[in-house]
Amino acid sequence: MGKLEIERIQKSYGDNQVLANISFTVQDGEFVAIVGPSGSGKSTLFRLIGGISKPDAGAISLNHKDITGLRGFISYMPQASSLLPWRTVLKNVMLGKEIVAGKTNEEQALEMIARAGLAGYEHAYPHQLSGGMKQRVSFLRSILSPQPIICLDEPFSALDEWTRLEMQKWLLSIWQQYQRSILFVTHHIEEALFLADRIIVLSEKPAIVKKEVSIPFERPRSEDIVLSKVFLEYKKMIYHELRGS
Ligand SMILES: Nc1ncnc2c1ncn2[C@@H]1O[C@H](COP(=O)(O)OP(=O)(O)OP(=O)(O)O)[C@@H](O)[C@H]1O
Ligand SMILES: [Mg+2]
Repeated sequence: MGKLEIERIQKSYGDNQVLANISFTVQDGEFVAIVGPSGSGKSTLFRLIGGISKPDAGAISLNHKDITGLRGFISYMPQASSLLPWRTVLKNVMLGKEIVAGKTNEEQALEMIARAGLAGYEHAYPHQLSGGMKQRVSFLRSILSPQPIICLDEPFSALDEWTRLEMQKWLLSIWQQYQRSILFVTHHIEEALFLADRIIVLSEKPAIVKKEVSIPFERPRSEDIVLSKVFLEYKKMIYHELRGS
């Protein structure tokens, strides 16, 4: 079960008011994407949800339990890579499991590493990987941790178009298999449309929720939807919403 409720969250850093008033819900098993201008407070919002910092006002709850300011309830992949340089790929991937469950499952981790195109790098160290490879490793770590909600902050931004599409399809297949709730930040409108059940559009800072859009494409999703007329219409609508016109 993973129902996340964000209620009237506010956050400032000194005089810099970042989040004016944010409320939304992620239903159990839902895939929600957040798009918003750079600097609108998306990563700030994620840090609040992950309990890394505290909101000035408002509440965050998971399955009706207040988790405001508490860590460990949400699997959180930060925007910058957070791999431990002294651990191998395999050991980094298994970290999420160790911390929370106290148990490791090497076989599952190895299989996921291979499916992410990292076979042969299981025992490599982060400094031996490209930026995109590092992103994939930290992504695997968050997906393998046991929390019911995963927050991903632009997990595919360092990947080329082709790898990005492969990872998107792979993420969808894992999500369908594991039935977790996902909250996903991206700059890429097409990515949000391809992946999400619902898209939340944030305004410039101080951020409010400008619009919530339900995405009509059925699942499992085929790559072909990106060529459809409906897809283009939604893309335009969200683009205009973001641009404020
Ligand atoms: N720890 C911090 N201390 C002070 N100011 C901060 C801190 N973290 C973020 N900010 C400020 O909060 C605002 C929002 O930053 P944030 O990183 O949340 O934006 P974002 O929407 O994730 O941007 P991007 O799309 O570029 O990743 C910025 O003005 C930033 O300077
Ligand atoms: Mg950010």
